[in-house]
Amino acid sequence: MQHSTLYNIFNTPEPKSNQRSVLNLRCKPIDNVRIAFIGLGMRTKSALKRYMHIEHTQIKAICDIVPDKCNHAISILQEHGVCDFDIYMQQNDWRVICEREDIDLIYISTHYQLHTPIAIYAMQHGKHVAIEVPAAVTVQECWQLVDTAEQTQRHCMMLENCNYGSFELTTLNMAQQGLFGEVIHGEGAYIHDLKKLILDTDAYWNMWRLKFHAQKNGNLYPTHGLGPLCHIMNIHRGDKLSYLTSTSTKQFGMREFINENYDNNHEFAALNYSGGDMNTSLIKTTKGKTIMLQHDITSPRPYNRIHLISGTKGFAQKWPKTGIALAPNGLEYITDDKLQEMLELYKHPVQRQMETVLESIDKQIPEISKNDSMDYIMDYRLIYCLKKGLPLDQDVYDAAEWSSVMELSEYSANNFSTPVEIPDFTRGNYKQTDSIVYHI
Ligand SMILES: NC(=O)c1ccc[n+]([C@@H]2O[C@H](COP(=O)([O-])OP(=O)(O)OC[C@H]3O[C@@H](n4cnc5c(N)ncnc54)[C@H](O)[C@@H]3O)[C@@H](O)[C@H]2O)c1
Repeated sequence: MQHSTLYNIFNTPEPKSNQRSVLNLRCKPIDNVRIAFIGLGMRTKSALKRYMHIEHTQIKAICDIVPDKCNHAISILQEHGVCDFDIYMQQNDWRVICEREDIDLIYISTHYQLHTPIAIYAMQHGKHVAIEVPAAVTVQECWQLVDTAEQTQRHCMMLENCNYGSFELTTLNMAQQGLFGEVIHGEGAYIHDLKKLILDTDAYWNMWRLKFHAQKNGNLYPTHGLGPLCHIMNIHRGDKLSYLTSTSTKQFGMREFINENYDNNHEFAALNYSGGDMNTSLIKTTKGKTIMLQHDITSPRPYNRIHLISGTKGFAQKWPKTGIALAPNGLEYITDDKLQEMLELYKHPVQRQMETVLESIDKQIPEISKNDSMDYIMDYRLIYCLKKGLPLDQDVYDAAEWSSVMELSEYSANNFSTPVEIPDFTRGNYKQTDSIVYHI
């Protein structure tokens, strides 16, 4: 392959001598997983409620710098009879928590920029980490996560809930059973009109998300669309992401919205919002397959993650219309009845494993079943695997690969869509396995 026009913007760092791969990492089983939650904002409110219904866990500490957020978290825990935990409120208290001896898992749900610093410090102090999406904001941070996980032999899982969507899990199983033949192309996205939320002064802490989007261009939230596709396409399990090219529209929608809704002298009017409305990235894999990935959080469009899988023998898509088409009748979607039959037939083993649990949870607390129950399945699976000492469903290489697209797409989009190499975070070990296993 000629690399004369392929930009390798980040060299692979030299591993330390004590470092070894964490592919299929198995750690000592933990009977009762002791957890600290850092960042108690919008996302963690629902996480805490979920953990009230996951056995073999104990919440040891919660941490946020905003007293109201702590108070709200305390009330959720106390409502469920959980009273024996410590509360931390100082800017750097996350360090004190990571240094504690009586915690197994640090659950990180702050703004993006603190994810990697906390995760690294936590692993260096012997903790497993679960990090909200994206795990890292730069390629350098992605390498830091990989290197620290390899040096400490700790689990580092990004909390990519979309991998546990019902159609995503079922299509993963369909792909693994060969229903689509060779999967050659996937499409994913994060299309979600968030203009009002990111401009709401009472929503994100310190308006971190608005500030982030004001500074950056490219795909700034790649993991929801990419995660499920990468597991279906065996990325770093036989194949790997090779390079991408990316392009963004100019900024139209956000500026128009601000002009229409705020005075000229409002602080938002002065904002130089550099993120294009729609970013489209194309990724080529080493085996010659492709992934199209989009990001748009400003256009007035219905929510869409696409989740499209195209293979030599079949096709599936979740949005905008959920459907499946199979050879030799590829011109037509299968009927709705047949679709329901196949969704039942091809349920992923994880879905079967959790059927009874989900049924009883849904009846008790319908709130947990929203979003396809994918958040609950994700947390349940994390604890299940830690308890049994099994490899987690998502490893640190997933976290790094999926998160790295943020900076790589930005580089490409800002440089005439130049092709950019995607690092091999496994340093060549991606050939060791040929498919993802969600251990039961
Ligand atoms: N997977 C999903 O579907 C999904 C959905 C929403 C958000 N998220 C992710 O969750 C994360 C949090 O998002 P959110 O919507 O809850 O944002 P948020 O702003 O509501 O929450 C962030 C919290 O971090 C706290 N914080 C800031 N500095 C801190 C520090 N030094 N120590 C402790 N806490 C600190 C803030 O006070 C705030 O409460 C983000 O990474 C986001 O991408 C994921």
